[in-house]
Amino acid sequence: MSVLSPDPIVATDAPEAASATPIRFVGPDGEIAPGARSWAERMGFKGRPGQVLAVPDADGGVDRVLVGVGQTFDPMSARALSAKLPTGLYRLDLDADAARPAALAFLLGRYAFDRYKARKDVADVRLVAPEGFDTGEAARIAAACALAREMVDTPPADMGPLQMETIAREIAEAHGATIAVVTGDDLLEQNYPAIHAVGRAAAPHRAPRILEIGWNLDRADRPLIALVGKGVAFDSGGLDIKSAAGMRNMKKDMGGAAHALALGRLVMQAGLDVRLVVLVAAVENAISADAFRPGDILSTRKGLTVEIGNTDAEGRLILADALTRAAEHSPGLTLDFATLTGAARVALGPDLPPLYTDDEALAADLLAASAEVRDPLWRMPLWPGYRAAIDSDLADVRNDSAGWAQGGSITAALFLQKFAPTTGVWAHLDVFAWNSRGRPGWPEGGEAQGLRAAYAMLKARYGKT
Ligand code: BES
Ligand code: MN
Ligand code: ZN
Repeated sequence: MSVLSPDPIVATDAPEAASATPIRFVGPDGEIAPGARSWAERMGFKGRPGQVLAVPDADGGVDRVLVGVGQTFDPMSARALSAKLPTGLYRLDLDADAARPAALAFLLGRYAFDRYKARKDVADVRLVAPEGFDTGEAARIAAACALAREMVDTPPADMGPLQMETIAREIAEAHGATIAVVTGDDLLEQNYPAIHAVGRAAAPHRAPRILEIGWNLDRADRPLIALVGKGVAFDSGGLDIKSAAGMRNMKKDMGGAAHALALGRLVMQAGLDVRLVVLVAAVENAISADAFRPGDILSTRKGLTVEIGNTDAEGRLILADALTRAAEHSPGLTLDFATLTGAARVALGPDLPPLYTDDEALAADLLAASAEVRDPLWRMPLWPGYRAAIDSDLADVRNDSAGWAQGGSITAALFLQKFAPTTGVWAHLDVFAWNSRGRPGWPEGGEAQGLRAAYAMLKARYGKT
């Protein structure tokens, strides 16, 4: 993260809390205190969302801050505070119920990816904890989102399969979990043929691998949760090479792996009452004389053969083997995260990740959690009528889908469904993992999507009571 203060949240009853500058959230018709009214008018403050105005006091300090919220107040707007306020200690002038999510939003908004810049942004904005705020829990959630974003933002040369492995090892070690890694040609011996095929064209130091974290596996009394992530360090498209524009942001194609690792860490930190397996298929979809080809027929760990219609549909191939591995643990619940399709963005735009599951209770719990923590998800169908679109004349299934079916995010999800564990329930999140529109609190670049929702769902189901 950045050089900002490591302790941005100050205890509610800390001595300095009494002198904190109040932040007041104001809508278009909101009342502004008499002392600030003419200043607000002069500065053109109208309570529009995104507007922030510091009101000076008589000594040239800041007396209060006004933040525009538009017609309805969204606590997430507090993500902008770090970017917009001068250095100082502030408190939220809100009901505690609204202040708590706003304080978490403030923490999420502190993320900055400045590791490669000599000049860092140094404004040091701190906030007094609202009444009843669990600072430790909020800090862990913000750190999980920051980890996912940082992994996505890191240039592909510095976030290859090996670096994902290193991060997975650190997470496992910190929580007494086991980690097993199968790399390179060992993938063939250990029966991960699809992961091998997709990743074998990469340079030797960026060899394909599967990472498997196991936590509490001896606790047979607990439900087993599997988290699976697509870790394509860079997606050139392979031989069906992407356009320059299409390739430009493909460092983010390990976003699913970043989400699975960050969520796995959160589950372990929270000590949820589960057994946990985190599986990451980490590869680079590169081009070389040994790259897999359109027309090739790959085998998979499950035994199903896949005809390659397009080497750019690589994510579902590596997830096929990872999901098959997950199934071997007989999980009660499997969640996978993947930057799987461009079609997901065409369907729902960049900010609304499609959620796929055939389990009504899981859908309901995830959507309820999503609304509760303001981490949007939108359910899409595993529409059986499109299954025929991934039939192949020569193999058991094809990795691209027939043109008539159009809905590319759906047909990709249907492909995964053929490999997903059937012992329990399964959900797939086709995340974009990216803010395309930079704005204060949402800088252009990596974004955690569905991570907080998934965690809230898991905590509601398996948290200590
Ligand atoms: N990683 C991409 C999907 C993607 C593209 C995610 C842009 C986010 C933004 C994936 O590997 C891919 O290339 N999918 C193809 C599949 C097609 C060839 C069947 C796609 O969506 O175009
Ligand atoms: Mn691709
Ligand atoms: Zn991809």
